[in-house]
Amino acid sequence: MNDTDDLASVLAGARLMPVLTVASTATASPLADALVAGGARCAEVTFRTPQAEQVLRAIAKHGGLTVGAGTVLTPEQAERAVAAGARFVVCPGFDAEVVAMCRKLGVPVVPGVATATELMTALRAGIDTVKLFPAEPLGGLPTLRALAAPFPQARFVPTGGIGADLMAGYLAEPAVLAVGGSWMVTSAHLKRGDYEGIRRLTAEAAERSTP
Ligand code: 3PG
Repeated sequence: MNDTDDLASVLAGARLMPVLTVASTATASPLADALVAGGARCAEVTFRTPQAEQVLRAIAKHGGLTVGAGTVLTPEQAERAVAAGARFVVCPGFDAEVVAMCRKLGVPVVPGVATATELMTALRAGIDTVKLFPAEPLGGLPTLRALAAPFPQARFVPTGGIGADLMAGYLAEPAVLAVGGSWMVTSAHLKRGDYEGIRRLTAEAAERSTP
């Protein structure tokens, strides 16, 4: 995948972006099995744990998911993430150096935006798929609609505070490609090794995400 159009079609096909914060490499394989069994097609491994790189590498090798890196804050992290197998890079905000590194590496980047100014910055950088973050604390659907209105070319992956109950409302918006969230894979699930719970929540979400 080397351009944002490809990423947009992956996201539009997947509709769901499970956000994974994983502290143990041993978890990667059963977690990927559970996500695939639940019908997820892509996932984001956040760079919030020291093991993120190894977890990303293991999930990328496992197959069955288009896996990207999340919470990427620096160009160096983007480089490491791509070397570990990330097919795309997600950031909580917009950082021109991270965007430049992703361009250099030939991977699509999805910057976070929370304001019209940030969205204009992303669009002027040639990026029209953005993460609305943190979607619910920013005001949820009314905010998304108001922000999307002046920018018909923008496509959103709202993330932050979204759960099973709210996802369908977001997905009904034409400007929304996919919704992201950690509700399908919580630290509690991972702590107790509850892969069946992860599979079930993912399957329920996948079911709700199909029109
Ligand atoms: C992210 O990194 O995208 C968010 O922290 C996920 O948000 P959530 O935990 O509220 O779903």
